[in-house]
Amino acid sequence: MKLEEVRSYIDQNKERFLNELVDLLKIPSVSADSAYNKDVQACAEHVKHSLLNAGVDRAEVCQTAGHPIVYGEKMIDPSKPTVLVYGHYDVQPADPVELWNSPPFDPQIIDGNIYARGSADDKGQFYMHVKAFELMMKTNTLPCNVKFMIEGEEEVGSVNLGLFVKANKEKLKSDVILISDTSIIDNDTPSITVGLRGLSYVEVEVQGPSKDLHSGVYGGAIDNPVNVLCEMIASMKDANGKITIDGFYDKVEIVSESDRAAMESAPFDIDDYMKAVGVKATKSEKGYSPREGSSIRPTLDVNGIWGGYIGEGAKTVLPSKAFAKISMRLVPFQEPAEITRLFSEHFNRIAPPSVKVKVTPHHGGDPVVIPTDFPGYQAASRAMETTFGKQPIPERGGGSIPIVALFEKELGLKSILMGFGLNSNDIHSPNEHYGVFNYLKGIETIPFFFHYFNESSK
Ligand code: BES
Ligand code: MN
Ligand code: MN
Repeated sequence: MKLEEVRSYIDQNKERFLNELVDLLKIPSVSADSAYNKDVQACAEHVKHSLLNAGVDRAEVCQTAGHPIVYGEKMIDPSKPTVLVYGHYDVQPADPVELWNSPPFDPQIIDGNIYARGSADDKGQFYMHVKAFELMMKTNTLPCNVKFMIEGEEEVGSVNLGLFVKANKEKLKSDVILISDTSIIDNDTPSITVGLRGLSYVEVEVQGPSKDLHSGVYGGAIDNPVNVLCEMIASMKDANGKITIDGFYDKVEIVSESDRAAMESAPFDIDDYMKAVGVKATKSEKGYSPREGSSIRPTLDVNGIWGGYIGEGAKTVLPSKAFAKISMRLVPFQEPAEITRLFSEHFNRIAPPSVKVKVTPHHGGDPVVIPTDFPGYQAASRAMETTFGKQPIPERGGGSIPIVALFEKELGLKSILMGFGLNSNDIHSPNEHYGVFNYLKGIETIPFFFHYFNESSK
């Protein structure tokens, strides 16, 4: 496989590659909001047709109890290895829409970036695989079998994909899973994600009085659930930034000093990092750097908190209830179910007698670590080295893709997290964008992954 030939195919087709991505990004496939169910379905059909147009033998939209999964395959020779490409066509809600500079589902290409919800997470990234596959078909360079599984529920926990995987082990039989849904360090510094954090997510309710009360008549005598919730949340981290839930750290992996030193040696500019998110100081657990805090250490964060009067003006009220959504990012070898239980016990224990509390668990996921000493990783590393001219750095990421651990457990397959986004792409935020450079670089790199993976299994 020649780099010049790959580049020339991309050069001749890049306008169309961009136009096709723009069409995909116009479909508001928001999985969390049932108002978009028809769009999610339409997006699945669109993805199926894109696979057929790119040259798969067959493709189908597989219905589930939730949003559908798109499956497609091209089998060239049963004796050749098979790569299973996973991605997600669903996107996060676009809110708050008023903070977007252009409508989230009316993609705009400005200064080398495509602005739209889902541009980087994950439509722009999984679509690179569809176009790289087209390239290999059209240039007669597809070296092995390929299966595509593009789901519509990643952003809501992949529950139905889990069931689909368990029920379709034979269909999904392959040698490695390839995923582009993560970031590189920067456009001159390729990296491969070798770790994802797990997740435990809960919603809490604190109830004080059985109804809203006058804050003058009762204030000072009846405890306020909003105040109580704030105190409870504040007490869950100590002055060193350590989470105070009993047993929370019991299973946390101790990363060796040499591994920590290797991670810290990757390029990183703390001033740029702070500037990009608009803060004057970072905050991590004592003894850990910001990069460590956001990769090898667990967290507890309030994602949303509400209660009482939040309308215009001032209403004097002592509210009956307060609520919060809380996420805990987990690291090896913490277990989501156990952490959720520890949280719930702790939260009940620290509640004062003046309130009642309720903890409702949401979706969760296991953390993953991916080794660097197996053919899949080596193929990804060589592919990126070919197209970037630099060996990629293995790096642990802070986000979660819960299905990756399940792939390993149910299918016995390791995943290669060869993403091409940037941490500055504002995924899940207003003005999400994906670089045209990154999109095309992904299309260029993926065929080399197939090439080297096939070579290594000869
Ligand atoms: N693609 C992201 C995860 C990600 C982003 C990993 C950047 C590493 C770097 C994925 O779509 C995502 O947002 N996952 C959710 C988990 C899910 C259960 C909602 C997350 O991490 O919050
Ligand atoms: Mn994603
Ligand atoms: Mn996401």
